[in-house]
Amino acid sequence: MGRPLGKIAYENHGRVVLVTGVAGGIGWAIAEEFAASGATVFGLDVGAPPAANSRISVLPVDVSDRLAVETAVQQILAQVDGIDVVVNNAAIQPVASFRPLHEIEPELLEQMLRVNVGGYNWVARSVLPQMIRQQSGVIVNLASAHAWRSSRDVPGYGPTKAANRMQAVQWALDYARQGIRVISVSPGAIDTPLVRASLEQQGGEGALANRHPLGRLGKPQEIAAAVLWLASPGASFVTATDLEVDGGLGGLGSFADPYEMPARFRIDRDK
Ligand SMILES: NC(=O)c1ccc[n+]([C@@H]2O[C@H](COP(=O)([O-])OP(=O)(O)OC[C@H]3O[C@@H](n4cnc5c(N)ncnc54)[C@H](O)[C@@H]3O)[C@@H](O)[C@H]2O)c1
Repeated sequence: MGRPLGKIAYENHGRVVLVTGVAGGIGWAIAEEFAASGATVFGLDVGAPPAANSRISVLPVDVSDRLAVETAVQQILAQVDGIDVVVNNAAIQPVASFRPLHEIEPELLEQMLRVNVGGYNWVARSVLPQMIRQQSGVIVNLASAHAWRSSRDVPGYGPTKAANRMQAVQWALDYARQGIRVISVSPGAIDTPLVRASLEQQGGEGALANRHPLGRLGKPQEIAAAVLWLASPGASFVTATDLEVDGGLGGLGSFADPYEMPARFRIDRDK
């Protein structure tokens, strides 16, 4: 018989949570966990959620559209008396972006900046006045292992994720005295549509799993667990920092590098 692992139960009744990219792998898991712990959850996404949940209301909003984000936040505030937790999670990593900088379509580069960096700004900027009025709030930015280190062929996506980490640090410093905490979470490879779409570019599932010391991809629920803790009173002295939830990947020091190194990077030392 295995040893007891302990148990955590969260209580979020009365709290209002806003999750962007709520229809995706990690966003939906975060929304479901908050809903299961009693929170009222609002989600923003350009896509449809995978299921119905009476505690999760999804608004069709493109986070890179500042006016649409501001309108959505006003609509939410007309229904509830505050916003306690915001999870900036909507981001894109198109398969066609796994190219060196001079080969990426300029439109893709711009789109990643608009969604992955701009979207995080617009959402935070729209909710901060309410959090200041409340003198409370938690913002969690989904960053990435790429916020800390890089690999070949991610010149568009990687730097946007580093920006998400520094956005969190910046906002944390600026709003700490208003009772607002801001933290980023940096996942390793998590089994979601985003990662499934680019498995080939990342060397295949087995190789990608093996590059994590724990020997597998993470589950969306394992990221949700970190976000719920960061948003809880258990993390009341945690702000302006990043939590790597990556199965040890950061210790190993590599991420989406193609398992088979592309020929143009290889030096044939056996010649
Ligand atoms: N999956 C991973 O391995 C991994 C690793 C590191 C970091 N992350 C980060 O976690 C977050 C979630 O990733 P995921 O794997 O769940 O991705 P995903 O592709 O499964 O979900 C992303 C969601 O965002 C939505 N979205 C995209 N553009 C949008 C826009 N302009 N406005 C509103 N919604 C939009 C999509 O429709 C989708 O529902 C991202 O910030 C990503 O960078 C993921």
